[in-house]
Amino acid sequence: MLEQPGTMKNIAILGSTGSIGRNSLEVLKQYPEKFRVLSLAAYSNARLLLRQIEEFHPAVAVLIDENAAGRIRSSVPAGTTLLAGQDALVDAVSHDDVDVVISAFVGFAGLQPTITAIKSGKDIALANKEILVVAGEIVTQLAREHDVRLMPVDSEHSAILQCLTGEARKAVRRLILTASGGPFVGKSREELAHVTIKDALNHPNWSMGNKITIDSATLMNKGLEIIEAHWLFDIPPADIDVVVHPQSIIHSMVEFVDGSVKAQLGVPDMKLPILYALTWPERFTSSFPRLDFSMPRDLTFREPDLETFRCLSLAREALEQGGTVPAALNAANEIAVEAFLSGTITFLDIPELIGECMQQHQNHQQPGIEDIFAADEESRQVAQQLIERNRRVTMTV
Ligand SMILES: NC(=O)c1ccc[n+]([C@@H]2O[C@H](COP(=O)([O-])OP(=O)(O)OC[C@H]3O[C@@H](n4cnc5c(N)ncnc54)[C@H](OP(=O)(O)O)[C@@H]3O)[C@@H](O)[C@H]2O)c1
Repeated sequence: MLEQPGTMKNIAILGSTGSIGRNSLEVLKQYPEKFRVLSLAAYSNARLLLRQIEEFHPAVAVLIDENAAGRIRSSVPAGTTLLAGQDALVDAVSHDDVDVVISAFVGFAGLQPTITAIKSGKDIALANKEILVVAGEIVTQLAREHDVRLMPVDSEHSAILQCLTGEARKAVRRLILTASGGPFVGKSREELAHVTIKDALNHPNWSMGNKITIDSATLMNKGLEIIEAHWLFDIPPADIDVVVHPQSIIHSMVEFVDGSVKAQLGVPDMKLPILYALTWPERFTSSFPRLDFSMPRDLTFREPDLETFRCLSLAREALEQGGTVPAALNAANEIAVEAFLSGTITFLDIPELIGECMQQHQNHQQPGIEDIFAADEESRQVAQQLIERNRRVTMTV
């Protein structure tokens, strides 16, 4: 076991069966005297959740899908209370003993339980970027009111936090988010017309859940990250740039007013940003993979192709319009990605669909949380209707 400073922290994980959730458990396992798994929550993957319960002995485990929970109820060992349904997430995140909630559900579904966690005064290690995309102002305001830390897990935002630590806010000129460009970097629109689901899921550097992998291929992921960075670091959108860096070694950079640029480098592995989110401002010794500078390697940079990868511009536009437009963008994107993954629409239909939903959306400025939920619901319906209409036209043709 590795020697570390600090006291024991009790951790809740929303999304323990996902890519971030599994990586988080790998991290926690390395430091048994520093972290204890207090609660785990997943949607329906009962078999994996049961294995995690057997290994980590949480006090509480939740499956949102009640049927899935029924399948493992009799196998759950004594010492863990298995709960089912959406409302049970309250018990997972607001248990008195929880110190930090790793928010790693995918998509809009993570918003409500993360708000509950913040209102219960729990620090948040935030992987679920969609939360800040749809409700950045509300969530950051709530975090301030409840004196809660919102620590980034996304590798780019972790890199920026690492570059900003110890620097004055007024010394910052701009943030530079790096993008791998995904599997289609350098491709033209014509080449993208016939890409398959398998091609789009084949990310060159990162192994992640399906939704974020498609978002990386469309560059929507980088658009969502601009919005996330704006809310996390309180930097104007115009001062957040994106550069394509296909090697994914530099995870992001900060340029300062004197022209100096700080970058954070590491192997593409989420364990380091997860650990940093849990230990900031300290660093724990780790045995995770490290960069090997004895290997020849090029680090290259280029401008993103905004004509071909329209999603990046759509996300910027949503941020500039503000109000409920980012919620409409996010909902349309979640539906579009699902439709692409089920073979209902093509890769190039994704930005078309999102753009159309944004156009049809009636913006509410200064939204309350109920306006965000309404915008999400409405944009999902519009996206579904557009997909259905498109399907009927295609069948007629
Ligand atoms: N993966 C990465 O390397 C990475 C990096 C940076 C940021 N992120 C962000 O982290 C979040 C999680 O990404 P991921 O790649 O870990 O996703 P993932 O592998 O697809 O895992 C998603 C998790 O959310 C649960 N889930 C699925 N649908 C749900 C719903 N409707 N309601 C509640 N829970 C649901 C899943 O439970 P079941 O397994 O039971 O379905 C699973 O535990 C995303 O917001 C992503 O953008 C991920």
